[in-house]
Amino acid sequence: MKHLTQISDLSREQALRLLDVAWEFSAVAERRVPKLPTLRGVTMVNLFFEDSTRTRLSFEAAARRLSADVMTFQVHGSSVSKGESLKDTAQTVEAMGADIIVIRHFASGAAKRLADSGWVTGAVINAGDGIFEHPTQALLDAATLRQRHHQDPLGKDLAGVHLVIVGDIAHSRVARSNVALMATLGAAVTLVGPPELMPRGVEQWPVQVTSDFDEALATKPDAVMMLRVQRERIAPDSFPTPDDYRRRYCLSSARAATLVDHAVVMHPGPMNRGMEIASDVADSSRSVILDQVRNGVSVRMAALYEVWGDRRE
Ligand code: CP
Repeated sequence: MKHLTQISDLSREQALRLLDVAWEFSAVAERRVPKLPTLRGVTMVNLFFEDSTRTRLSFEAAARRLSADVMTFQVHGSSVSKGESLKDTAQTVEAMGADIIVIRHFASGAAKRLADSGWVTGAVINAGDGIFEHPTQALLDAATLRQRHHQDPLGKDLAGVHLVIVGDIAHSRVARSNVALMATLGAAVTLVGPPELMPRGVEQWPVQVTSDFDEALATKPDAVMMLRVQRERIAPDSFPTPDDYRRRYCLSSARAATLVDHAVVMHPGPMNRGMEIASDVADSSRSVILDQVRNGVSVRMAALYEVWGDRRE
């Protein structure tokens, strides 16, 4: 695997291998010194043109656990404010020794553009680009579901698992990557949201679609993933009122109480508590939101290991 820019580039075998490697790496966190020498001498740069807490810090933690060196770029305070292009910025960090570029960008397709452009020779990992993809988020979500559904998750897919994804699907790179990965791994997906927040062409996706959250909950899903309402990406006149949204799509305590015993609640973060998810549900024993964060580190270790592996050989 030379780059990781979109889930559709991954075969079922590659996806399972990434999850298996992540599972093996998760044991490193339990060590007294949580570090392996695997990527010693390799430099990773976090090239973040958009804000992030989880993704940026977990890539940093992942690189350090593998003994890689880390450079962090944030657009605020950089020469991007003077008009420097993505090409020049990427070539600049590569000239300073970056071997792996982890990029988050507001433009959909930016990571693939960088990987395919020939501007840089290093590996490119997509840390979220516009409304296109967030592949490592989908992988950490799959890792979390796999751990819940299999005592020994190694080599196992997600056949038989039903995931309901709720919210602003149209603007969600998390939803796009999850739909692709869940199809690859054999899980069933139902998308729930107001029609105005469903993407064009969703009827071609390998999913069920409904605007009725309670109807989706009545199918007794194994997991419910709540998405953040992305006000920064939504046109002001295309959104139900906040009260209307809460009434129809918030995972309230009453709705959570209808879930089957083993069902889990997921959220990629950051959460709007009280908007898409009730605070007590986010903090409940059903919530695997912090497991998702923990799995983010080991999944990103696996992504770094896999893209670097191809170059090492
Ligand atoms: N889930 C996610 O991408 O979170 P951050 O924006 O904090 O990285």
